[in-house]
Amino acid sequence: MTHESGTLEPTAVKGMFDRIAPVYDVMNRVMTAGLDQRWRKLAVSQVVWPGDRVLDACCGTGDLAVEAERRGGRVVGLDFSPRMLERARTKSGTIEWIQGDALALPFPDGDFDIATVGFGVRNLADLEGGLKELARVLRPGGKLAVLEITRPRGILKPFFRLWFDVLVPLAGRVLPGGQAYTYLPASVRRFPGPDDLSALFRSAGFADVHYKLLGGGIVALHVGVKP
Ligand SMILES: C[S@@+](CC[C@H](N)C(=O)[O-])C[C@H]1O[C@@H](n2cnc3c(N)ncnc32)[C@H](O)[C@@H]1O
Repeated sequence: MTHESGTLEPTAVKGMFDRIAPVYDVMNRVMTAGLDQRWRKLAVSQVVWPGDRVLDACCGTGDLAVEAERRGGRVVGLDFSPRMLERARTKSGTIEWIQGDALALPFPDGDFDIATVGFGVRNLADLEGGLKELARVLRPGGKLAVLEITRPRGILKPFFRLWFDVLVPLAGRVLPGGQAYTYLPASVRRFPGPDDLSALFRSAGFADVHYKLLGGGIVALHVGVKP
């Protein structure tokens, strides 16, 4: 069930998101006091321009893909969880929703102008392999934007610990299908910090890598360019 690194096997991750799907959107709004949608909007505004062909990988219930379409992107949303995709399909009839693996994308090289991943790379069994795969499907000059939870370093640290290690798993326990939220703090704890993630972007082949911390440092938005 788990890798030596403590990450879950892909089939376990897929099963977990299938179970979470009914409460996923509600949990996002509750956990972030509604800020999650603002972060998605900001991420998209940094990289998507009208007419861009956009891949939103690990699209889940589709909120980031929908935001990219609102900005004028021609969007493909990809996820391996059929239940998450079922919810995404109700949000847009014009986005192309595809069930597939982000580690083996069903697209030719250079197929997209932009790739986005919202709160998804943390779940990949092979993070560097996933970033390389995203680089592969981008055209030269194309951009990757990754939104991900990160652990704050400053004064927010104790509040974050209480919220994330105690309150989030508790909320997960009381919501039907939410048990998997007990997995969330562990997955964030072992995820690389923003500087290390930037280094992984570079070793996956991205240039001009930079990041912004959002929400008082609990979320990082990384952007890199395919040379
Ligand atoms: C935390 S959700 C994020 C959903 C959405 N992007 C958002 O902004 O809310 C992570 C998603 O990644 C998907 N996922 C994880 N590993 C994947 C993989 N290897 N291929 C495709 N989807 C994957 C899960 O099924 C899940 O829907």
